[in-house]
Amino acid sequence: MKYIFSLFVVIALAAVFAYADFTTAPTQDNPNGSSELSKLMRDMQQYTNRAKEGLKTNAKPEPYPVAFDKIHTAKITAGMSKSDYYGSFADLYVMSVKNYAKSGKSNRAETYNNMVSACLACHSQHCPGPVPVIKKMMWEPKRD
Ligand code: HEC
Repeated sequence: MKYIFSLFVVIALAAVFAYADFTTAPTQDNPNGSSELSKLMRDMQQYTNRAKEGLKTNAKPEPYPVAFDKIHTAKITAGMSKSDYYGSFADLYVMSVKNYAKSGKSNRAETYNNMVSACLACHSQHCPGPVPVIKKMMWEPKRD
């Protein structure tokens, strides 16, 4: 009886392994790359890159993109988490973009760099990977 029971268990397990679809987890090019927050980050990065180009040509800043308000609520990649300070870093960033967007010629470069510093502040705490890339976004970075 015991033997038959174990045989049954083995067959049941074999059936589970044969039919369970272990490939249903979504596959992505970049496992870190497709959360709502990641997508927003790439929009923020593009806004900043255009802003840097604009500094060279003295272009008027693009208005603050309202979609950036989502930095507070956008879903983060599964397995990553926001610290207790995330909200404050996000506020700081949003404020810095608004300041840049309404800057005049005289404080445009300064408000631009404040914006990049706000990226760095949050990243040094939450997601150090892109830090080297973000550092290069600084306008006229000081030489080491
Ligand atoms: C309030 C915190 C915070 C601020 C401010 C912030 N980031 Fe991020 N950033 C994150 C977090 C957290 C992630 C990871 C998101 C995820 O994996 O869901 C991320 C991810 C990224 C990524 C990787 C996106 C990808 O493709 O996976 C880049 C690039 C990035 N941020 C650039 C920037 C730039 C540039 C700025 C400023 C314009 C900025 N971040 C401002 C927290 C922040």
